[in-house]
Amino acid sequence: MPYPLTVLVLGGTSEARALAADLDIRPGLRVISSLAGRVSRPALPPGEVRVGGFGGAAGLAAWARAEGVGVVVDATHPFARTISAHAAEACAAAGLPLLRLARPAWTARDGDDWRPAGSLEEAAALLPGMGTRVLLTTGRQGLAAFAGLDELWFLIRCVDPPSGPVPARCEVMLARGPYEREAERALMQRFGIDVLVTKNSGGSLTAGKLEAARDLGLPVVMVARPSVPSAVASVPDVDAAVGWVLGQVRRPGRAAPADSSGA
Ligand SMILES: NC(=O)c1ccc[n+]([C@@H]2O[C@H](COP(=O)([O-])OP(=O)(O)OC[C@H]3O[C@@H](n4cnc5c(N)ncnc54)[C@H](OP(=O)(O)O)[C@@H]3O)[C@@H](O)[C@H]2O)c1
Repeated sequence: MPYPLTVLVLGGTSEARALAADLDIRPGLRVISSLAGRVSRPALPPGEVRVGGFGGAAGLAAWARAEGVGVVVDATHPFARTISAHAAEACAAAGLPLLRLARPAWTARDGDDWRPAGSLEEAAALLPGMGTRVLLTTGRQGLAAFAGLDELWFLIRCVDPPSGPVPARCEVMLARGPYEREAERALMQRFGIDVLVTKNSGGSLTAGKLEAARDLGLPVVMVARPSVPSAVASVPDVDAAVGWVLGQVRRPGRAAPADSSGA
């Protein structure tokens, strides 16, 4: 192989870490994972890691050019809408192949009582009348949407402490998944939870709360995913993403990367 293919993995998810781990041991690839730098002690993928924003789509395109990036896999969280849009714009401008790795959304099963919400604001508007003790698992961003609900009590579970407004009556529980069904059921019972609010993140690592809510007959406010640029090719799992990257290595006429020496 004349030169390695540099793969940029936009990360912040367990799938991104698994993808980087798989690709990092393969010959002919250089793998760089990118993290936003939101959490204080992120779980780091194997291989090279860079941290922090690029400065918009133009910054991402310029950074990719300087590093000689050959392909990009957007393995960010399904709710990280801005970086996905920037990746699509940057790759289109730079002529870089882009793949979206997005785990499938959760779907309701028999026994589930899900109320759909299009946004955190819609979720907050649904809550009065549904319950009085809320398990809120939408992350530390966007909690301001719930801050005016003074009649309700919230157990807010997130990885790092919230920085903006939070509801007046709440307890913050700092925790990082995965979460098992039995432990989730015990948590809900211990705190007298009568309604769950979650984003439709998908995946198995945090699905235990949905099973626990079903076990306990609790309603769930399910915040729908933001839309993504439809022109971007998408796969649902790490194996398919690995296959796509290896296909790019073998792509006939693959252009040599731009000189990254700065000369
Ligand atoms: N949103 C969620 O619910 C959620 C849940 C779990 C994990 N995460 C992870 O946390 C990160 C931030 O999520 P978010 O919703 O705040 O993102 P976002 O709103 O889509 O992105 C905001 C800005 O953060 C920077 N950024 C985001 N992800 C990046 C990455 N992987 N590498 C470099 N820069 C990145 C970009 O800054 P510039 O414009 O300066 O480049 C982007 O414009 C994402 O990487 C995501 O995978 C998000």
